[in-house]
Amino acid sequence: MEEKIIEESKQGTATMLDNAVENSAGKKLYLESYGCQMNFSDSEIVASILSEEGYTTTRNSEDADVILMNTCSIRENAEQRVRNKLSQYNKRKKQNPSLVIGVLGCMAERLKKDLLEQEKLVDLVAGPDAYRDLPNLIDDVVGGQKAVNVLLSREETYADIAPVRLGEGGVTAFISIMRGCDNMCSFCVVPFTRGRERSRDPESIVAEAQELFDKGYREVTLLGQNVDSYKWNITKKGEVIDESKPVVTFAGLLEKVALVNSDLRVRFSTSHPKDMTDDVLHTMAKYENLCKYIHLPVQSGSTDVLKRMNRGYTREWYMNRINAIKTILPGTFISTDIITGFCGETDEDHKETLSLMEEVGYEFAYMFFYSERPKTLAERKFEDDIPEETKKQRLYEVQELQSKLSYAANEKLVGQVCKVLVEGTSKRSEDYVYGRNSQNVTTIFPKNNYKPGDYVNVKITDFTSATIKGVPVVE
Ligand code: 5AD
Ligand code: SF4
Repeated sequence: MEEKIIEESKQGTATMLDNAVENSAGKKLYLESYGCQMNFSDSEIVASILSEEGYTTTRNSEDADVILMNTCSIRENAEQRVRNKLSQYNKRKKQNPSLVIGVLGCMAERLKKDLLEQEKLVDLVAGPDAYRDLPNLIDDVVGGQKAVNVLLSREETYADIAPVRLGEGGVTAFISIMRGCDNMCSFCVVPFTRGRERSRDPESIVAEAQELFDKGYREVTLLGQNVDSYKWNITKKGEVIDESKPVVTFAGLLEKVALVNSDLRVRFSTSHPKDMTDDVLHTMAKYENLCKYIHLPVQSGSTDVLKRMNRGYTREWYMNRINAIKTILPGTFISTDIITGFCGETDEDHKETLSLMEEVGYEFAYMFFYSERPKTLAERKFEDDIPEETKKQRLYEVQELQSKLSYAANEKLVGQVCKVLVEGTSKRSEDYVYGRNSQNVTTIFPKNNYKPGDYVNVKITDFTSATIKGVPVVE
């Protein structure tokens, strides 16, 4: 997936998800999530499934009867971080032998029984399509067995499960609209860990958005590895499944969610350059509440490298999509993902990435050096031939350039008035609140009497490459 990540280092930063749910049985669950937004969203499904069984989630791993780590395999260092954490939790088993430790998500799927049998780090392993089975798996462990379910499904979308919202603030939430990925980018492990692509019933998506709005939420992010290939009631080949019902594409779904309420902001992630249609852009132009921000991962500026990456587009095609965004949606902020040092990347290829970044003028980017992943097409077909030092040097150059581009983008906002959705009190000062504008830039301004969920027009007075600051416009 083009996984859109919450923290600055994407898959790298672990963020704990926690929430308290009343229950009678009093068993305590500690959930820790790594990686992409989809994992965070999945943890909310896991919390929902286990709260039905009477689990309370806890913020403190030391209180837990069950520790579940929702993991990421996208780069090797993400996996190493999880292993270190699992070793720490394992030490606790000496004092508390009944503690259940489980691994969920991509590492569960990739490593399967290894984590149980060879590495002996966990009691339970559950892949991304096996969460309904968690109550049984935990029972098996309590009964003295090790438990594994890594079956991938062609149908599972968890459409009927109302996620327990674990994020803070009660203003923004994720809605998963599809699962899996059929793209097979040659560097990517996701198609192996999350299985085939499938879309979720649009009615259940709209109902979830409505319910969130009714509870006071003011922003939803629609999640999928490749949202542009969302489709309902039509096969991949284009055959309508039920003639009596409408076909829903991603543009159609966006419109439906936009219409839930004009005060509900809608974002989405991730778009794929080969599939992003002008239809989606025209729908975004039509509704003010469809946020003017698009994450369009390019990965490389060189057509040769893109070909080896199996991305399905050339540099020219990508620039055509960028130009469509700039024409149909002027002022939209565009972000991207970039990988440096992919197999066979020459200095020339690297320069093409830098020149493409300048040409687009990205407002934001997530940048990585290539990490070879077992079983991927690239691992089987190409040599991982770029020395680590070169990969890192190129990454540094890409990061330096992006930092200049982000600075210039935010500088342009000075003097403009942005509509900001308040999310909470600034971490640096009690006297300030923070939120984001439509283009997804974090904005800080004086608190006055504003509370989370308020929309405030803010005149921008100051900026860095990461945030903008301003003062409320008094109407
Ligand atoms: N090495 C480095 N980065 C990767 N990504 C995916 N697989 C790899 C890999 N093997 C990056 C891509 C993708 C983002 C989620 O992670 O840029 O868009
Ligand atoms: Fe994204 Fe490509 Fe990986 Fe699918 S295969 S998740 S589109 S990077």
